[in-house]
Amino acid sequence: MSYPIDLNNLPAGFTPLASEPVFDPSKHLALEPPSDIYSLADLGYGADDIAQCPTEFGATSVFRVLSSEGAACLLDVCQQLEAFTTSNPRIARNTRGGVYRSAFLRDLCLSPDVSEFMSRLAGISLSPHTIPHQLGHLNYAPNEVGADVDKWHVDTLRYDYVMFVTDPTKVEGGAFQYFKGTKHEMAELKAAGKAVPADRVIAPAMPGPGYAIMQQGNMVVHQAKGLTAPGERITMVNGYVADPAVATDYTRYDQLLFADPPEIVTAEFARHVAVQAGAKLAAFSQGADFIDNPEHYAAQMDAIVQSLQSAVDEMRDSSERKMEHFGS
Ligand SMILES: [Fe+2]
Repeated sequence: MSYPIDLNNLPAGFTPLASEPVFDPSKHLALEPPSDIYSLADLGYGADDIAQCPTEFGATSVFRVLSSEGAACLLDVCQQLEAFTTSNPRIARNTRGGVYRSAFLRDLCLSPDVSEFMSRLAGISLSPHTIPHQLGHLNYAPNEVGADVDKWHVDTLRYDYVMFVTDPTKVEGGAFQYFKGTKHEMAELKAAGKAVPADRVIAPAMPGPGYAIMQQGNMVVHQAKGLTAPGERITMVNGYVADPAVATDYTRYDQLLFADPPEIVTAEFARHVAVQAGAKLAAFSQGADFIDNPEHYAAQMDAIVQSLQSAVDEMRDSSERKMEHFGS
């Protein structure tokens, strides 16, 4: 599966950084597995919800991704990319599409070593997300001290890791938190105007820059708290997709339209859907079964057609869209 970034045809306005470190996995990675992996059932999800997901994987405890040198290089890159922050109704300052500007960020986010590592955590073969704006998403602390970095939400993709780029031990506040519960429970709490119970909020202790947690992001409700004193807080979120031949995709085109310029969202989404369908067709074409039942083959082909049709319908849908989140 080739990755859909054409370095000779970058989106308008995305120019490469003039000077940056070169990613070297042997120097910059320090992958160490987490001590704990929580399943969706551990978070309270039942069989019906879990059946809709490729795996039962929920989230991990903290683990290390980058060496000290790797973290220092990424911080340098992210400080340069801070010039390109944008805002949306959920996040005051984020930079998306940094993989079009930074070779270091791109090579880190596409790293086969990291993809294999994340696959072991999630219990399924993962590849870097084929929507480039779902790679290397960067959150920067809002300019206003105390304002949250991101509200309670679930992601527009299934698998991602959230990594501190800055040193979380050198600032006050700024915790990454996730909810020990389901998104349905969070919706009920918010609809009833109730506060999120403190004993159901997990705030993993991040020991330094280059440490992360991994999650099935469309199922795990999470948020990023604001700093309580002036300081620098940057986190990176990298997205992955499971093998399209064995797992259904989860992408929220409607929600991405709130995060990125529409011409980029639609181009990247359409290519992503094409990559997904292509992988499914390739797997189908390699089938070695000989069954005297046309429906056996028709149903498989129809599923691929339907995945394309559903994307076409989403792109043509002109109804009003609303950004979804659970508030602060
Ligand atoms: Fe998120």
